[in-house]
Amino acid sequence: MQFIEAKGCRIPAVGLGTWQLSGRDCVRVVEQAVRLGYRHFDTAQMYGNEREVGEGVRASGIKREEVFVVTKVAPDNLAPRQLERSVKDSIGQLRLGEIDLLLLHWPNKGVPLKDTIEALCGVKRDGLARHIGVSNYTVALLDEADTLSEGRLVCNQFECHPFLDQSKVLAACRKHGMVPVAYSPIARGGAKGDATLQAIGKRHNKTAAQVSLRFLVQQGIAVIPRTSKVERLAENIDLFDFELLDSEMTQIAELAHPDGRIVDWAWSPQWDR
Ligand SMILES: NC(=O)c1ccc[n+]([C@@H]2O[C@H](COP(=O)([O-])OP(=O)(O)OC[C@H]3O[C@@H](n4cnc5c(N)ncnc54)[C@H](OP(=O)(O)O)[C@@H]3O)[C@@H](O)[C@H]2O)c1
Repeated sequence: MQFIEAKGCRIPAVGLGTWQLSGRDCVRVVEQAVRLGYRHFDTAQMYGNEREVGEGVRASGIKREEVFVVTKVAPDNLAPRQLERSVKDSIGQLRLGEIDLLLLHWPNKGVPLKDTIEALCGVKRDGLARHIGVSNYTVALLDEADTLSEGRLVCNQFECHPFLDQSKVLAACRKHGMVPVAYSPIARGGAKGDATLQAIGKRHNKTAAQVSLRFLVQQGIAVIPRTSKVERLAENIDLFDFELLDSEMTQIAELAHPDGRIVDWAWSPQWDR
C-alpha cells in the first residue's frame, strides 16, 4: 500500500468507501477488505454504519494501529456542543478508540465556520481524533478554514473522477498542504463503460475502473471506491503494478465535461460552489 502524507498524517492511498453498506453485509465486506489489504475505511455519521464498520475491523483481527478509520460529522451537528457530543457518539459506535481522521462532512451556512472549526480543533486537542479535515469544501471555504484552524486541517474529501475537472480545488489543497481524497472515484460505476478508459486498460491488462483509480492515485490523490462485491474489492486495490503514460494521463483528463458532477450539492445547507 502506498501512503499520501500531510502534516504528519499518513493516509493509505486506497480506502474502502462504505456509503450504503449496512448490517451484516457491511461487517462482512469490511472484514474481507482488511484480509485483501485495505487499511483505510471511510464512514460517516450520516451513513448509519459506524457500528458495522468498527465491527468489521475488529472481526478481521488486525491490530488497531494498522488501520486508518475516517468518519465525518453530519452537517446538522456543526454547532460546537453538538459536534462534540456527536463525535463521542461516533466513537461509541465505532468502538475503535480514537478516530484517525475526523472530517466535517458538508459545510453548513447556518453555523459560523469559526465556531465549528474551533470545536473541531477542540476534539483533536482532547484526543478524540488524531487528525482533522473537511469534505466538500470549495476553494474559498478551504482558504477560510485553513486560516481559522491555523493550518491544522490535513485533508479535503470531494467528488473526483475522470469526468469532472477539479483542478482548482486540487490546487487549493496543495497550497494548504492538505491531502486530496477522491470520493466517487469510479464515477459510481460509470468509469466501467467508458471506451477511452477501457482501451487504455486493455494496453495495461487492467479494467476501466482500475484505470480511473490509477489516474487519481498517480496524481497524489487518495481514492475510496465502494463495492459490495468481494471480487471487486480485490480489483479496486490492485493499482500499484502499472503506470499510466503521460499521454494516457492527458487523454483521461480530456474526459472531463461540464456536466460531470454526480453528487448533487443542492440538498446541502451550503450548496454554492
Ligand atoms: N464526503 C462525501 O460527501 C461523500 C459523497 C459520496 C461518497 N463518499 C464516499 O466515497 C465512497 C465512494 O463513492 P461512491 O460510493 O459515491 O462511488 P464509487 O465508489 O465511485 O462507485 C460505487 C459504485 O460502483 C460500483 N463498483 C465498484 N467497483 C467497481 C468496479 N471495479 N467495476 C465496476 N463497478 C464498480 C459499485 O457497485 P457494486 O457494489 O455492485 O460493486 C457501486 O455501485 C462512498 O462509499 C463514501 O464512503 C463521500
